Amino acid sequence: MQYLEIKGGKKLSGNVEISGAKNAALPLIAATILSKNSVEISNLPNVVDIKTLIKLLENLGATCEFKDNHCAKINASCINSTKATYDIVRKMRASILVLGPLLARFGHCEVSLPGGCAIGARPIDLHLSALEKMGATIEIKDGYVIANAKDGLKGAMISFDKITVTGTENIVMAASLAHGKTTIINAAKEPEVVALCKILDSNGVKIDGIGTDELVIHGTNGKLLDINSIKVIPDRIEAGTYLCAGAITNSKISITNCEPKHLGAVIAKLQEMGFEFEISGDKITILPADKIKPVEIITSEYPGFPTDMQAQFMAICTVANGTSLIDERLFENRFMHASELNRMGADIKLNGNVATIKGIKNLNGADVMATDLRASSALVLAALVANGATKVHRIYHLDRGYENLEGKLKALGADILRGDE
Ligand code: EPZ
Repeated sequence: MQYLEIKGGKKLSGNVEISGAKNAALPLIAATILSKNSVEISNLPNVVDIKTLIKLLENLGATCEFKDNHCAKINASCINSTKATYDIVRKMRASILVLGPLLARFGHCEVSLPGGCAIGARPIDLHLSALEKMGATIEIKDGYVIANAKDGLKGAMISFDKITVTGTENIVMAASLAHGKTTIINAAKEPEVVALCKILDSNGVKIDGIGTDELVIHGTNGKLLDINSIKVIPDRIEAGTYLCAGAITNSKISITNCEPKHLGAVIAKLQEMGFEFEISGDKITILPADKIKPVEIITSEYPGFPTDMQAQFMAICTVANGTSLIDERLFENRFMHASELNRMGADIKLNGNVATIKGIKNLNGADVMATDLRASSALVLAALVANGATKVHRIYHLDRGYENLEGKLKALGADILRGDE
């Protein structure tokens, strides 16, 4: 296993280019199952989760040709199996995104239950009940979802009890080939969902209400799509993470190839903490604050404050001038970074899903353990300002969703290196 060693105390400067969004690329890769020909996807992030999902498709018989680390041509027309096995699905829950497209195209599939993960139980009941409303029969057997719709899926009225990002994406893809119209009420509105809908809508599937919480998908009655090329949108969470690197080190840095309008809640929170910004086109520059003010955060679905930025902000709060509160409303166990930050001298108290963070003058370097993707990035951020050296262990979590994190931070002036345990 590998670790990152960071020596804290360096100011950052310069510019970092944001990669394509992992959480936009994953549903788009799954959507290639709906296409009758090869699909070229550009601006892919070079991260492990992308390789994992492409490997899953190849295991089903699809072919993939990487033109470079950021561009792949995927041909799902030669898929000859519809069983997504546990060995791959257990590595990445987002594998569940093949369920809707496989069922829609082939009328049958077996997808391993993804199981929980570090941040929570992460059930898929909403995905399954929606597919049943579309006429599928769903059986859970030996840890697999066995789905059948031999006469194809039919349009239905779906109302999600909770807003689910991959649940919305799965049903939008399933509805794309269905017979008739599917309405999704309480749909997720994340930019990644909007990007998927726009691609489908411009390739033969009429979708009304894109960007709103009510989507109407007019199915093609089983006719495959003709998707040619797709460009992945910038990663708003990676962008937010680098803005937090500028904030916690109180440095002036710029990020480019990002979409500022996807970062409204994140920028607003950093402004509340005393930071100012220069925004022009796809470039955002964060300017140092006189002092970092404490803040109150409640995570919610887009366009509210993203749960995927909660850990990174907790790191900043540990060195703010006062007491901050973070209320994590989406996941039941997304505070595992708190105990690791406390090992660095932070003063964080947890009470259920609410964290109270009393700002301190300095964090101290320590050996800490990454537990999930965003928690790992929070530990790296804390290490950037801690006295002395910090080793973040088990950084395979980071490699799942951040492209070349140490290279990008080193280019900004951080003292960071990757080592083998
Ligand atoms: C997506 O996960 C993201 N992953 C997550 O990012 C992100 O944290 C999450 O949305 C929330 O924004 C991808 O897009 C690949 P949900 P997803 O279904 O779709 C409950 C990262 O760090 N729920 O929107 O799995 C669920 O338990 C990852 O990049 C049900 O109860 O999340 C949670 O409490 C982490 N039943 C809430 O809904 C269901 O059937 C939101 O989950 C589905 C979800």
